[in-house]
Amino acid sequence: MKDNQKHTLSFDEFDEMMNPRPEENDFDRIVEAAISRRGFMGGVLAFGSFTALGGSITSADAASNRFSFNQIGSSTADDVIVPEGYKVDVMMRWGDPMWSDAPDFDEATRGTAASQERAFGDNTDGMDVFPHEDKMLLVVNNEYTNRAIISPSAEDGRIVGADEIAKGMMAHGVSVVEVAKIDGKWQMVKDSPYNRRITPNTEMEITGPAAGNDLLKTDADPTGTKSLGTWNNCGNGKTPWGTYLACEENFNGYFSSSEDVKDDNPKSITPGMKRYGVNTTDWGYGWAEIDERFDVAKHPNEPNRAGYVVEIDPTDPTSTPKKRTALGRFKHENAEAVVNNDGRIVVYMGDDERGEFVYRYVSNGVYAPGASTDELLTDGVLYVGKFSDNGTGTWVALTPETTGMDQSEIHIHTRQAGSAVGATTMDRPEWIAANPKAPEIYCCLTNNKNRGVKPNAGGDDTSVNGPNPRAENNYGQIVRWRPDGGDHTSPGFTWDLYVLAGNPTVHSDAYAGSSNVNADNMFNSPDGLKFDSNGLVWIQTDGNYKNEGDFAGQGNNQMLGGRPGHR
Ligand code: FEO
Repeated sequence: MKDNQKHTLSFDEFDEMMNPRPEENDFDRIVEAAISRRGFMGGVLAFGSFTALGGSITSADAASNRFSFNQIGSSTADDVIVPEGYKVDVMMRWGDPMWSDAPDFDEATRGTAASQERAFGDNTDGMDVFPHEDKMLLVVNNEYTNRAIISPSAEDGRIVGADEIAKGMMAHGVSVVEVAKIDGKWQMVKDSPYNRRITPNTEMEITGPAAGNDLLKTDADPTGTKSLGTWNNCGNGKTPWGTYLACEENFNGYFSSSEDVKDDNPKSITPGMKRYGVNTTDWGYGWAEIDERFDVAKHPNEPNRAGYVVEIDPTDPTSTPKKRTALGRFKHENAEAVVNNDGRIVVYMGDDERGEFVYRYVSNGVYAPGASTDELLTDGVLYVGKFSDNGTGTWVALTPETTGMDQSEIHIHTRQAGSAVGATTMDRPEWIAANPKAPEIYCCLTNNKNRGVKPNAGGDDTSVNGPNPRAENNYGQIVRWRPDGGDHTSPGFTWDLYVLAGNPTVHSDAYAGSSNVNADNMFNSPDGLKFDSNGLVWIQTDGNYKNEGDFAGQGNNQMLGGRPGHR
């Protein structure tokens, strides 16, 4: 995700999460009314700059599960537009102090490193809420910073000066905030004992099969089990035992090399780094200028300590976040955890890069409420997805036998392991979501201009394939799969495409999109994805909003609501 405010919860969404009403909730009533108004059948609803999409709905389905807000059209307004009867409020903003002894946000300077470390971070992405005793905790990823905004003195997108660089660093990470309804409005509870900033300097424990591997050892941590911080946390996950999963995505863009030579210098950029996009120059953050661990010429193993799923206990602000190497190292989008019928924990994950893979983790132990969960994300098997063109697929275990690699290294060079077993190259896997009403998983494949054009960074073929059927794919699609026997640990699954995004007003071929796409609900680049408790799926886009050419009529980014339908 690239846009900040779009992910702030509406009051209604928040209220729904606070007060789940399984039989019927406000959301259901709204959905019902909208479908009734339209005599809805078979399709798609637009929900604003938040828009909505329906799936393969049938008339029988339509009676039981409906949208009920007024569909709103695409918009190019720089605003959050919601249907009639709804309102949008800002609950908290980048730079809002989380403690009363921290300074207020300074509009002129945009703050300092010291003020930012005690304030809500920048660019919110994945988030979740955690009811705890009589409190409500909100945990939010602060994925990255718009450098020219956070630092007015930035030059050509590059932050200049030690304190400005440190401020940018402190704006990254995760914010844990207690929230409460005060004077009728949900807001941050300043000075809550639960408030916490987790930054790129917060001590982390490295757990699981890669912990202690030589590739993770540095001068500062000769054990390879303790790293500092997390950054570029994109999507998230939530475990059944109430912890938060922050997913490290574009961690590579913060490393650089003091070797004064051009990119791809073999003296400092190893093939292992190159597969993950680590190069001699960073993306303008300048972190190596204030902390040499981001200089890969001096600390070549440091990038190996990022790219993981980090488990955080929001109820214990003194707890040490844990990097879960069992879930693999790649550019993690989110981590969708489900409890399988037999109690094992299954986590579905995507690697958001053109031509990279989707993964599944299966715990060896079973989840039992109240019992220890310590091993559930450290002891298990990691699989990578292979999709056949005939609508079936298999999960291939990443082991020494299948990959020819050491098990510990598989959890560091996970992309290479996926390539070794011939995993299916995907069109940038973004969020993955499990349908609470059926053993069914949905995955946004956001777009891939390189599909059919050039191989991925590992040299894997990216010709069009079943779930990625269009070359130079600038619209994206959502693939879904159903595990054989309804068992998430099964080796096999069947898949189909829920929607092919496209533009039927511009194209009449496959780039027009699937039959459930029309001029009123068309969109590009599906990214965020979440089911509500009633089995409706919500899709957020993060795409091209120039509103012309291939994207004419699609407006700005939007949120769509979809009815999965039945196969
Ligand atoms: Fe942070 Fe995959 O978007």
